[in-house]
Amino acid sequence: MNIAARAETEGMFRWPDEGLARVPFRVYNDPEIAAAEERLLFQGETWNLVGLDVEIPQPGDYRTSAIGGTPVIMVRDQSGEIRVHVNRCAHRGSTLCLARAGKAENFTCIYHNWVYGLDGKLQSIAFKRGVRGQGGMPADFDMAQHGLRELRVERICNLVFATFSQTLPPVRDWFGPRMVWSLERFFHKPIRLIGGYTQVLPNNWKLYAENVRDSYHASLLHTFFATFGLNRLSMDGAVEVSERGGSHLSWAKMATDDAAGTDYATGGLRSMRDLAIEDRRILKVWPEFEDGITHMIQTLFPTVFLQQIQNTLAVRLIVPRGTDRCDLHWWVFGYEDDTPEQMRMRLMQSNLVGPAGLVSLEDGFIGNAVQRATRGEQGHGAVVEMGGHGVERDRQSRVSEAGVRGFWLQWRSLMGL
Ligand code: FES
Ligand SMILES: [Fe+2]
Repeated sequence: MNIAARAETEGMFRWPDEGLARVPFRVYNDPEIAAAEERLLFQGETWNLVGLDVEIPQPGDYRTSAIGGTPVIMVRDQSGEIRVHVNRCAHRGSTLCLARAGKAENFTCIYHNWVYGLDGKLQSIAFKRGVRGQGGMPADFDMAQHGLRELRVERICNLVFATFSQTLPPVRDWFGPRMVWSLERFFHKPIRLIGGYTQVLPNNWKLYAENVRDSYHASLLHTFFATFGLNRLSMDGAVEVSERGGSHLSWAKMATDDAAGTDYATGGLRSMRDLAIEDRRILKVWPEFEDGITHMIQTLFPTVFLQQIQNTLAVRLIVPRGTDRCDLHWWVFGYEDDTPEQMRMRLMQSNLVGPAGLVSLEDGFIGNAVQRATRGEQGHGAVVEMGGHGVERDRQSRVSEAGVRGFWLQWRSLMGL
């Protein structure tokens, strides 16, 4: 456990004796914990997604986002290098770049017109020498000391990551070979962005982080998955947890489904009753990968998610906004060599995901169902025992909450709790 972090969070609260099999409800509600997360996770030892490189192909192209509570700008500079700056003017702290994305030759703060280059260096200050010899900046003011704060940046596949840490291992080593294997599978050829959107979730960011790592809920909460056989726990599949615990893979092969003799066949599940679909085009799919995997969900600690649900491919990022709200950003993609027919099928299948998606809409709701039932709770916690008590890393059944326990293992280690 991180000793420095422990000193910082000492006395905050005590984790239950049951260890990873319990999660105290107050972690979703306590502002003190949220403040510690800012320092110890988001401004600490984590790699954070700030965008995709294909969003900024030319020098001057930029996109803004946030790492925890810190706004950032991802920009391609004149030399073609991708840089990430804190999106905050070095003068009095105004948000510098107000647009979500665009193209710029430099960044001018609207408050008092301090101007920064794409490299983050302060280039000019309005009225630096005052007016007619009066006012202005002191003669010893050193422009070189007042550039934008720049973060360390690394790219893996099409994903651009940044960190405040100078000591964190490189991104590939940090996530480990199995996670890298899956990223290289997702990005095995040039991608084409189809679209993106942002969804506001009325819950703490960690409830969504848990939800995506929880392969056990998918065919129970999401009636669509089970009813149409897109994803059932009776398929060949597995959960794999990363070395540090916080990242995971969950995959399944639809062709291997055998529901006979399981709870799906006996008719007791809510998700298996009374549902039909009129327009079956949404179920029209083709084998996306040769490995037979039709469903792959990957998480990268703390806030990144990748998805293959048949032919819908997406990257998602969660950005916390206080204790009981977060923004979920989506990038939906295909490949440059998609045929028009494949693109049509991807668009049709995209109705599964997003804020109103036939599958995803329940995930947009369920976090708030937990949030409002646990608000103010100081003593009790969640029971996380499906599939055991620990975080076995090897292939495990998907009837498991191992991915959720893994998340908390890494979170606790970084938080010293
Ligand atoms: S706050 Fe940006 S120029 Fe003053
Ligand atoms: Fe879900």
